[in-house]
Amino acid sequence: MPTLDFSKPLFSLAPLAGFTDLPFRSVVKKFGVDLTVSEMISSNALAFKSKKTFKMLEKNPLEIPYSIQIAGSDQTIIQQAVELLNERDGIDIIDLNCGCPAPKVVNNLQGSSLLTDLPKMAQTIRTIKEYSNKEYTSVKMRLGFNEKNHIEIAKLCEDNGADYIAVHGRTKAGKYKAEVDYDAIKEIVEAVNIPVLANGDIDSPQKAKWVLEHTGASGVMVGRAVVGRPWMFQLMKNYIYGTGASEVTPELVKEVVLEHFDQMVAHYGNHGAIIFRKHLHTYSKAGYEGASKFRDLVNRVESVAEMREVTSQFFSQEYIV
Ligand SMILES: Cc1cc2nc3c(=O)[nH]c(=O)nc-3n(C[C@H](O)[C@H](O)[C@H](O)COP(=O)(O)O)c2cc1C
Repeated sequence: MPTLDFSKPLFSLAPLAGFTDLPFRSVVKKFGVDLTVSEMISSNALAFKSKKTFKMLEKNPLEIPYSIQIAGSDQTIIQQAVELLNERDGIDIIDLNCGCPAPKVVNNLQGSSLLTDLPKMAQTIRTIKEYSNKEYTSVKMRLGFNEKNHIEIAKLCEDNGADYIAVHGRTKAGKYKAEVDYDAIKEIVEAVNIPVLANGDIDSPQKAKWVLEHTGASGVMVGRAVVGRPWMFQLMKNYIYGTGASEVTPELVKEVVLEHFDQMVAHYGNHGAIIFRKHLHTYSKAGYEGASKFRDLVNRVESVAEMREVTSQFFSQEYIV
């Protein structure tokens, strides 16, 4: 039985460096996401056995299937990184990042700059496929670098061994703001015979349904809309399948926020409370009184016990909208 089930729409959490770490993915997993992906992992750091990078590979036992996303294009390094991943159980997929626009990634012919060197991109996919002992090889791509050549890129992924692709419907030049081209994703779906996950600006259950229908994609991959709303996938599935609630209660939000906080401290130690500030900023956005004061406060709190206490108090209130 294959680990990924494409017989019905597949819901995947997008990789978001700095956000989709083990604590966050653990919380999201409880709300029915089908596939989770690590943050982008540098193949260099992996090959050089960086301790911090090895920690980034850790997963929650519930994360089945689990994908590790790597970035790189040096074939020797990629091979070494894949061989290190081969030694670890619990990884079902190795995903190649062909979308990251960050200059330090792009300047090293990694991430989205692979879209400017298609032979290298093809070779990198083949290297992963050849050396990996995991069930799947996948690619996360954009529609192009400056211009759209999405069909060519998608076919290249398919021809060189990708078992499925996730498509962020913008070019690299479009960064994170340009309008997402769902028609282009639909064209890819029609052009290839491997599953396609549609990605980009899917921020509500209604949008997820529309994108699935409009593009004919095998699933959706959602990133930013899940930050501060780890229950998003449950709401999406409820809406699409006509089951369950369309909103979450303040009681549930409080429970989830505190659980997320506890997992951060368990994973990162006391510093986890400080890293959690950015999540508190997002969690507190949704209709609470005194949210901006609360955000000021958490920026100053350093102790784990105090952070938990002020968080518990803040999220004990009812929504105001
Ligand atoms: C803060 C941040 C970090 C990201 N990190 C990664 C990453 O590590 N790997 C990757 O392939 N894409 C990364 N992305 C891109 C997302 O996976 C996704 O393609 C993009 O945000 C569009 O989807 P969304 O609108 O659902 O967030 C990142 C995006 C953001 C905003």
